[in-house]
Amino acid sequence: MKSKHYYWLIVCSVWALSNVVDGEDYLIGLGSYDMTGPASNVNMMGYANMGQDTSGVHFRLRARAFIVAEGVQGPRLAFVNLDAGMASQYGDLYRENNLAISGTHTHAGPGGYLQYVVYSITSLGFVHQSFDAIVDAIEQCIVQAHNNLKPGSIFINKGEVANAGINRSPSAYLLNPPQERSRYANNVDKEMTLLKFVDRDTGKSVGSFNWFATHGTSMSKNNKLISGDNKGAAARLFEDWFRSSNGTANTKTHSRSPTTPSMVAKAGRIKATGGQTCDKSTSRQFKVRSTSATHFVGAFCQSNVGDVSPNVLGAFCIDSGKPCNFNRSSCHGDDRLCVGRGPGYPDEILSTKIIGERQYIRAVDLFNTARDEINGRIDYRHVYINFTNIEVDLGGGDQTVKTCPAALGPGFAAGTTDGPGAFGFQQGDTKINEFWKRVRDLLKKPSKSQEACQLPKPVLLDTGEMFEPYAWAPAILPIQILRIGKLVLLSVPGEFTTMAGRRLREAVKETLIANGNREFDDDTHVVIAGLSNTYSQYITTFEEYQQQRYEAASTLYGPHTLSAYIQEFKKLATSMAKGEKPINNGLSPPDLSSHLISLLSPPSGDTTPPGVKFGDVKTDVAVPSRGWFRGGEKASATFWSAAPRNDLLTEGTFASVEMLMEDRWMPVYDDDDLCLFFKWTALNASLSSYARIEWEIPEEAVPGVYRLRHFGAWMIPRSTNVVKYFTGTSGGFEVSQ
Ligand SMILES: *[C@@H]1O[C@H](CO)[C@@H](O)[C@H](O)[C@H]1NC(C)=O
Ligand SMILES: *[C@@H]1O[C@H](CO)[C@@H](O)[C@H](O)[C@H]1NC(C)=O
Ligand SMILES: *[C@@H]1O[C@H](CO)[C@@H](O)[C@H](O)[C@H]1NC(C)=O
Ligand SMILES: *[C@@H]1O[C@H](CO)[C@@H](O)[C@H](O)[C@H]1NC(C)=O
Repeated sequence: MKSKHYYWLIVCSVWALSNVVDGEDYLIGLGSYDMTGPASNVNMMGYANMGQDTSGVHFRLRARAFIVAEGVQGPRLAFVNLDAGMASQYGDLYRENNLAISGTHTHAGPGGYLQYVVYSITSLGFVHQSFDAIVDAIEQCIVQAHNNLKPGSIFINKGEVANAGINRSPSAYLLNPPQERSRYANNVDKEMTLLKFVDRDTGKSVGSFNWFATHGTSMSKNNKLISGDNKGAAARLFEDWFRSSNGTANTKTHSRSPTTPSMVAKAGRIKATGGQTCDKSTSRQFKVRSTSATHFVGAFCQSNVGDVSPNVLGAFCIDSGKPCNFNRSSCHGDDRLCVGRGPGYPDEILSTKIIGERQYIRAVDLFNTARDEINGRIDYRHVYINFTNIEVDLGGGDQTVKTCPAALGPGFAAGTTDGPGAFGFQQGDTKINEFWKRVRDLLKKPSKSQEACQLPKPVLLDTGEMFEPYAWAPAILPIQILRIGKLVLLSVPGEFTTMAGRRLREAVKETLIANGNREFDDDTHVVIAGLSNTYSQYITTFEEYQQQRYEAASTLYGPHTLSAYIQEFKKLATSMAKGEKPINNGLSPPDLSSHLISLLSPPSGDTTPPGVKFGDVKTDVAVPSRGWFRGGEKASATFWSAAPRNDLLTEGTFASVEMLMEDRWMPVYDDDDLCLFFKWTALNASLSSYARIEWEIPEEAVPGVYRLRHFGAWMIPRSTNVVKYFTGTSGGFEVSQ
């Protein structure tokens, strides 16, 4: 495993820091790296939908990091946000208690990187390529952030994001006490908390991170294109906005010129090139955005997302168009018919963009008006806890309850309105029929104590008591508090529901204020960093647990899971507030890396049909009869291609749009642009495949002569590692108004 790198990295960082600068300021560094991973044949993480395998790229996934240090010798911490479903364990990295790794919760990234069985069934076990892409990106973005460390200031701002999330289990939310609910205007948290990082010497911003709760499920369970979903889209839009608003050379903002007949004729004379052999680095050279280590990094991080859906139009029955059963989210007893609608319904790409835009536009506002400077200490606490058997004191010492070994209920198998399950279960089921009981018992019959402990959840999958071929669910979980002055981040290894998150934040804040000797006060801002450091599914309140909807059925450690979190977080908060030494109970999670099973077959090599080469155009761009394209139309071409997982073209591109400028072709869009699609299709019963490059021509595209380009890598069949690179271009075409 690559994890050894990290330890070395952090040790070096500490040493190197003492050589940097002297001063009172924070030292701030940001970094970002491509973690797209295998774009073919790998099951996507999130919906557990067998057959939802990657086959192309909508836009790239990235890892984005910031490091903040308190002066030269003082404490420092790092936060990494991944365009991934969640964060996994990354081995020795976990020795570091000042590093948080958080997932945006996209459901459109390649899976197989989590270490527990239940999360890798549909991906046929562990997928090294997915894991390595993520680990490399974490390492690279931290190295970049480290190399960029400079004196700087941090500003904080908060505000509500309108219409980017609704509660997808409102019937469960209603079970929370009325007095508690009456304290909040909404059944989801709408607040976004944003940090703005500014370089002290240049006065320029170097980046911005924000936290806001909404699921990465704008893309559906039928999507096969890799996508960062709404948060990835928001980050792409935010970074592009910053680049263009600062006048960085950018062809997209050149002035318009009218189309002339000679340009149209010129475009018509530009023929597609045949496929050509090229170097590995070629696709990188055609990237539009500079990958220099000093660009602006904008990240959209996840929070208490458990019951928050981006499908804000609500869930409806697909047969009748009527609202679904309120308590069960089903239609005539069938959960599969009840599906949530995004604002672009039925266009999920559009929904992704709209929910991304709503977050991005708010982030720009908050960024532009961020004046509240953060000062104060950097601190952190981190501990591993075995969640299978925690005694929780519910008050007064006379009411002790316990958590249970992990288990999933039938509501888990029912899925949600963002992605219904397929086994005939419904959310809210508190019984399992004889058939499924027998199936369950074949895997593992739950112990009597486990059944009693989990009530009212009936145990469908006793994951906490299943260890063959290796552990099905985590037992040991990390919890962590990171402090930057008055901002306190709680890294939680799962998805807290709205109310569960509010209770945790409130408990931590009270504890900090009560024990902090005026270090903390009402102005202390506590934020949940969701899906951090490992993954253990959901955490509902005790009351929500009673209904056994999806989130409750996926609350692994029983009805008192949340109370256990609150108790353990209060211990960490007390230790931080009192300035005590970090708690160390000697626990650490098992390293399963030597047990992991990988059943996904490696790429089998590629061929082309007789007479064509890799990169040859299969179908050229069809120009509308008027002779040119207008903004809003789509230009597309197909190319003979090869499996994208032969080479991930990391920090490169599978596709680009080139524009003719003074007789030179310049790349102006690449596969990281929301308007450019790379779609890959394997031909049946042969090793041939083709790539379709689609460009949705933006309204603001500069008039001119364009062509589409494809990059790829093919593998000689049965050679397993001999890879050759190719490229090809379409014919020219004109874009005008
Ligand atoms: C662009 O850079 C200038 C300083 O050169 C800075 O004042 C401005 O805030 C930057 N633009 C944005 C959008 O931050
Ligand atoms: C939902 O279930 C609750 C009991 O948990 C019940 O009181 C309520 O009437 C149900 N609502 C609907 C719309 O069926
Ligand atoms: C967690 O605790 C349970 C119950 O005390 C114990 O059986 C189990 O071995 C522990 N798990 C690990 C991974 O240490
Ligand atoms: C492969 O076969 C399936 C089923 O026969 C068909 O639906 C699909 O279009 C075929 N794909 C290609 C690329 O020919």
